[in-house]
Amino acid sequence: MIQSIDDIRADFPILHRKVKGHPLVYLDNAATTQKPKAVIDALTYYYTNTNANVHRGIHSLAEEATADFEATRDTVKEFINSAHREEVIFTRGTTESINLVAYTWGRQNIKEGDEIIISAMEHHSNIVPWQILCEEKNALLKVIPITEHGEIIMEEFDKLFSPKTKLVSVVHVSNAMGTINPVEEIINKSHAVGAKVLIDGAQSSMHLDINVQKLNCDFFACSAHKLFGPTGIGVLYGKKEILESMPPFHGGGEMIKDCTLPKTTYADLPYKFEAGTPNIGDTIAFKAALEYIQSIGKAHIRKHEDELLRYATEKLLQINGLKIIGTARNKISVISFVINGVHPQDVGILLDNKGIAIRTGHHCAQPLMDFYEIPGTMRASFAVYNTIEEIDKLTEGLQKAIKLLL
Ligand code: ALA
Repeated sequence: MIQSIDDIRADFPILHRKVKGHPLVYLDNAATTQKPKAVIDALTYYYTNTNANVHRGIHSLAEEATADFEATRDTVKEFINSAHREEVIFTRGTTESINLVAYTWGRQNIKEGDEIIISAMEHHSNIVPWQILCEEKNALLKVIPITEHGEIIMEEFDKLFSPKTKLVSVVHVSNAMGTINPVEEIINKSHAVGAKVLIDGAQSSMHLDINVQKLNCDFFACSAHKLFGPTGIGVLYGKKEILESMPPFHGGGEMIKDCTLPKTTYADLPYKFEAGTPNIGDTIAFKAALEYIQSIGKAHIRKHEDELLRYATEKLLQINGLKIIGTARNKISVISFVINGVHPQDVGILLDNKGIAIRTGHHCAQPLMDFYEIPGTMRASFAVYNTIEEIDKLTEGLQKAIKLLL
């Protein structure tokens, strides 16, 4: 049964607070989503009832905590449709997942003169790890150009391939513009030249169905906090045979099979990549977040968000001097915009005075801002709990802000 918007909003306690005397209008969901009560309850339950370290104890609490922790791995496996549960590696989030690949697979496989391809719309977390690797290995980082609309130029992508292309790492959905990239085509083309592919799914996993087997990507990264889950927990998916061939990332407890002073052998997947006490409570609560998304259904989420995107695009374009940055044909519910003569930060502050939260700045995508020759944008990003009335408040708030600032 499809839940009503009021029922959905009732599940998120924070949506009922006031900010500066006004009801909160939270339109910064691309930065982080709010958490439903089920997630908050799962965290409270863990710390109230089962708090213990995982994989180590034989006492009841340790066994319960371990079972709950590992149950999240099974839920993630279903959520991304991976073939094996041990292909799901828990990390701190997308950034750590990408760094894990750069520091392990990258160091092992990238040699002097090799080439890595990214796109011009990447988040810093899918740029900097590759820059560090390329500097260390004397390898080359190539960039797929984009159009004014914020879409990858596929013909230019084709031209970047060479026998030295070892990895293509691209974002599934742009955090700054909402563009949905044609990742299936990118993956097929990259595999045809023997390159591996990493997909940054931080912004896509909430809005699109994720099926890593169908995509056939080699790596996929995402973060719980953009999926109604806690911060500090995320996932690296990797194909089993590739993960098995990679050296460990961090050394420490949990990731060993046998440790002697002369030599250590490493644990099997996934534990080889999960050194140290993990983020147990947040991992357990992540399961509640994924179950919450499944209970609403991705199709309903997408339909509602698309309606919000359509309405907001129409309303915002009525504002004099407003230009949308990122007008791809295939988009999720993110609108970045600039307004002639006003600074994004000033607008952000004035909106906050009315309880409206948007993000302003470069969105950790400075090279993209350079492409558009702007220092930053204002960005409204919608979730399934947002309403048409909230978009009306945003439009009204923007109009008032412009009057004050111009
Ligand atoms: N990457 C997040 C954003 O787009 C933090 O806001």
